Amino acid sequence: MAIIKIQKGTKDILPEEMSVWHFMEEKANEIFTKYGAKEIRTPIFEATELFARGVGDTTDIVNKEMYTFEKSERSLTLRPENTAGVVRSFIENGMHRLSAPIKLWYKGPMFRYERPQAGRQRQFHQVGIEVFGIKQPSADAEVILMAINYLKALGLNDLTVELNTLGCPVCREEFKTKLKAVIKPYLSNLCEDCQSRYEKNPLRLLDCKSPECQEIFAKSEIQAVIQGDFICPECAEHFKTLKEYLDTLGIKYERNKLLVRGLDYYNRTVFEIKSNSLGSQNAVCGGGRYDSLVKNLGGEDTPAVGFAMGMERLASLIGKIEDKKTTAFVISNDVKEALKLTEELRAENITTEFDLSNKKFVKQLEKASKTAKFAVILGEDEISQNKVTVKNLDTAEQKTIERSNIIKFFK
Ligand code: HAM
Repeated sequence: MAIIKIQKGTKDILPEEMSVWHFMEEKANEIFTKYGAKEIRTPIFEATELFARGVGDTTDIVNKEMYTFEKSERSLTLRPENTAGVVRSFIENGMHRLSAPIKLWYKGPMFRYERPQAGRQRQFHQVGIEVFGIKQPSADAEVILMAINYLKALGLNDLTVELNTLGCPVCREEFKTKLKAVIKPYLSNLCEDCQSRYEKNPLRLLDCKSPECQEIFAKSEIQAVIQGDFICPECAEHFKTLKEYLDTLGIKYERNKLLVRGLDYYNRTVFEIKSNSLGSQNAVCGGGRYDSLVKNLGGEDTPAVGFAMGMERLASLIGKIEDKKTTAFVISNDVKEALKLTEELRAENITTEFDLSNKKFVKQLEKASKTAKFAVILGEDEISQNKVTVKNLDTAEQKTIERSNIIKFFK
């Protein structure tokens, strides 16, 4: 019979890869908890409208990439990201009543119908954080700091932080008008995507990768608008203070005026952290401030800032972590005695295996030396004398002890 294959753009995370995933998850809990964040788990599917309103209906994510389906005449969507879901939960559970800042972190699968390639999947995992209730740039700085410290804890250092400000809806509107005016003469020469972005979301023109568009945007009159500082005094002050905080903390960053991010909810600070050793999909982290989203989704006016990281991309940078060896391997041809002893050890939190297929002694010893630190031998002599022989499989040292002392030996 034909085998059923895995879907394009999805991956099994196999047992031998699990140590890396546990490492990423444990470090997330450890680092984010240190900053006072609590974990939240929201559903994998939500009302489609949440993403249309939250992420924005001019974005590629909402227009082209959502896994949407109908059930009982409701339109549902597998979450393409988790900021919208966390904001929905924040509002629904009245979290604005908690004392600010409210810091929530998450991990889990996301779904985007994108063209799969190295570093880009249709089901992928994110670990992220959202901080609610603080409008000052100290929250932006702390969020960036959390991202960097998490990456450091994973042993990842060869990274570049890119930083930009998108201003507020008022100053951004002026910028969009100027940008559109200067690009208008070249409109018919832009790629198809940019022609539609021109009307719907002109800021996204800035991160078009097509060489023809790049050539047009490099023209001096267009560069003058892009490189000019369009932001209003309040937004400029926010950005200046954030940069001062980052400088004080010794965090290096590069200003990237073309960094606009692919989601509509951002205002003021946006940032990405890129790995210098990944290919074209080199962003390991993306985030920024989104002060209007809570209100736009029906909540109290609450400023917020956060980030998410792609865990597959992190895993590929971390590489392989060897599985820990089992502490003990019970070797015996008496299955009942072996079962009893194995369970006694496990009850004391000592990781223990024994050979379920009851192979020959030598075969059992061979297997033990590959997977365990100690062999606990229960031969006929040991059983009759109520003893066990413990062999250190690294040093080959062995000794016979009273069976009743075995837990003491490992403790
Ligand atoms: P994003 O930039 O769309 O932002 O995604 C964040 C990270 O998820 C990316 O930098 C990348 O590492 C990873 N990622 C995204 N798409 C894929 C994919 N198809 N395959 C593999 N990895 C991927 C957000 O999702 C925002 N919600 C971040 C945020 C949180 N902003 C504020 N709070």
